Formats: sequence, structure tokens, C-alpha cells
Amino acid sequence: MTADEKKKQAALAALEYIEPGSVIGVGTGSTVNHFIDAIAERMKGAVEAAVSSSEASTERMQQHGIPVVDLNAAGALDLYVDGADESNRHLHLIKGGGGALTREKIVAAASKTFVCIADDSKLVNILGEFPLPVEVIPMARSLVARELTKLGGQPVWRENFITDNGNIILDVHNLEIMEPMKMETQINQMAGVVTVGLFAHRPADVLLLGGEDGVKTVTA
Ligand code: 5RP
Repeated sequence: MTADEKKKQAALAALEYIEPGSVIGVGTGSTVNHFIDAIAERMKGAVEAAVSSSEASTERMQQHGIPVVDLNAAGALDLYVDGADESNRHLHLIKGGGGALTREKIVAAASKTFVCIADDSKLVNILGEFPLPVEVIPMARSLVARELTKLGGQPVWRENFITDNGNIILDVHNLEIMEPMKMETQINQMAGVVTVGLFAHRPADVLLLGGEDGVKTVTA
């Protein structure tokens, strides 16, 4: 079974969390694309509207005729479904491989339940093998890079990439994140950082992992 087939399995399993008639939060990435396509195919009438975490997901949902609404109009959400680049067993996540981390963190914060969907390769013991994305105000790129180096990582500028918010991304390599909450706070406090792609203070509530033997449900 390919990683993409595993992602699709996890995405289909997330459909069960949708309350008919609700407005849901929708993340970004290839796993979420399966989720969006599955809503369109199987549950279109059941989703009143979606709050999107990126221009890419907005476009995909609109192509399917799924109404997209602004978070300010939607208010608090019951459900947010999104992928991840890594998860530990506490459901602390690294996100932002697709560069949508800031809006993803906002929608996750606005949601009662965060269901994370992924293939089983994403579950790790210690976060950090996947380079940690940090969204940065462009003028602070070098300053923030120097600060990140002090934490022991090697920041690499994601060239030719601008986020939906007009900022840049530094991907921090070679971190061994033993204390995700502490590191999330430390990096978020750096002047010029918009968001770090560590989701530890607001982890996922449920992790649906697609694998060879079906979908495994992990809770913290
Ligand atoms: C985008 C994200 C994605 O959820 C993450 O990169 C996982 O992507 P994929 O589902 O393609 O493996 O955080 O910013």
C-alpha cells in the first residue's frame, strides 16, 4: 500500500467526525485534499460550510462547490481536520510542510476537536527529524535565523516560497525536540516570528493513522 493510499484511508475515516449541518475547519495538504474530495463525493449536503486554512484548500473546496466562510463569521467550530508532518504519542505535531502553519494554528485554536489525519510513517518517538517550519516576517529573516541557530538547529530559507500571509519560511533542520511545549513558546517569543509549526500547546485530540492493517485511532 502506498503512503498516498494510507492518507486516503485516514481521510475517509475522518468523515465520521462530521456532524451533519455543521461548519467545519479544513486544513491543508495532500491528506486533506483526499478529505475534501471525500466530502464532495460522499457528504456534500452534510457540510453547511467550511473555514479554510489556506488559499489552496479554499480553491479546491470551491471547485467542488463546498461553501467557504470566513472564520470571523463562523465563530467557534466543533471540528477541525488537518494533516501533519510528524506526531508524537502525545499528539504534539510538527506542521507547515505546505507552509500553511499560521492559518492552521488559528483554525485549530478556534476548534473544539482537532482530528489529525496521516499515514503511519508520521508517528515518531521524538519530533524533529522533519525540519521544523517557522513563518517569519521577511525583514527579520537573518535575525530569526541567528536565534534559531542558538537553539541548536540549522535554519534553511525556503526559497521561492511566500506564505498566504506574505511572509517567508525558515525550515529548521537537526532539532531533537525533547520539550515541544517549551520550544513552541521559545520560538514564538522571538521578534519577527509569526508562528512556529509546533502544535504542542494545542495538540491534536485524535490522530487517525492509515496503515497496512487499516486506520488506527490514537488519542493522547
Ligand atoms: C501544511 C501542513 C500539512 O498538514 C502537512 O505538511 C502534511 O501534509 P501532507 O498531508 O501532504 O502529508 O501542515 O502546512
